[in-house]
Amino acid sequence: MVCAFTHNWDRVDNFQSRPDDIVVVTFPKSGTTWVSEIVDMIMQGAMIYVGRNAKDVVVSFYHFDLMNNFEPHPGTWDQYLEKFMAGKVAYGSWYDHVKDYWERRKDHPLLYLFYEDVPQTPRREITKVAQFLGKELSEAALDAITRHTSFETMRDNPSTNFTMVPSNFMDHSISPFMRKGTTGDWKNYFTVAQSERFDEDYAQKMSGTDLRFRTQI
Ligand code: A3P
Repeated sequence: MVCAFTHNWDRVDNFQSRPDDIVVVTFPKSGTTWVSEIVDMIMQGAMIYVGRNAKDVVVSFYHFDLMNNFEPHPGTWDQYLEKFMAGKVAYGSWYDHVKDYWERRKDHPLLYLFYEDVPQTPRREITKVAQFLGKELSEAALDAITRHTSFETMRDNPSTNFTMVPSNFMDHSISPFMRKGTTGDWKNYFTVAQSERFDEDYAQKMSGTDLRFRTQI
């Protein structure tokens, strides 16, 4: 073994790989640097963006802020709507975020997905992700992923439903993290007046983009 490596043998011994790591293995002097650079270039900056319509996002976000203790209390629904429209919620303006990534897809390897599409055609959306990542899925694998990532399965799976997080951080009795997983739930929260005000503001903020979300399916 090259002595430079033996100096740090503890770190080599304790190295924990992650399931999604890509390992380039060679006998030395066989092209490690070359192939590593190729892989690096292919993977570099690859992004998958998921957009969801603003009305369902604000409803989901409101419930999340009610049940978690990371953010200050969201206030009333009406107050929260105003804050959302003003971009004064955690992570800032939804409008700028979705538009920014929509533009970025033009010069970055970026797959832009829509939340609303997934439940309707899960296999198609999963296949898109796989293709983007350069993977071909067998029918059986596609079936398994579709089943495993359905709302019902993820809601009941402790490793995806956040019920393992202590209740002083996330109080699922106020609202479960896996709340409804539907499109159009906003209709149960927006009054007609709120919806009209939101749509008017939306049209202004989203003018000049061809990005379109579905608010019902
Ligand atoms: P709702 O509050 O509308 O139910 P994020 O993970 O970005 O915080 O998003 C949380 C939202 O995604 C929640 O929306 C949650 O229910 C929904 N969600 C999570 N897993 C889902 C799945 N497998 N199918 C549909 N919706 C899902």
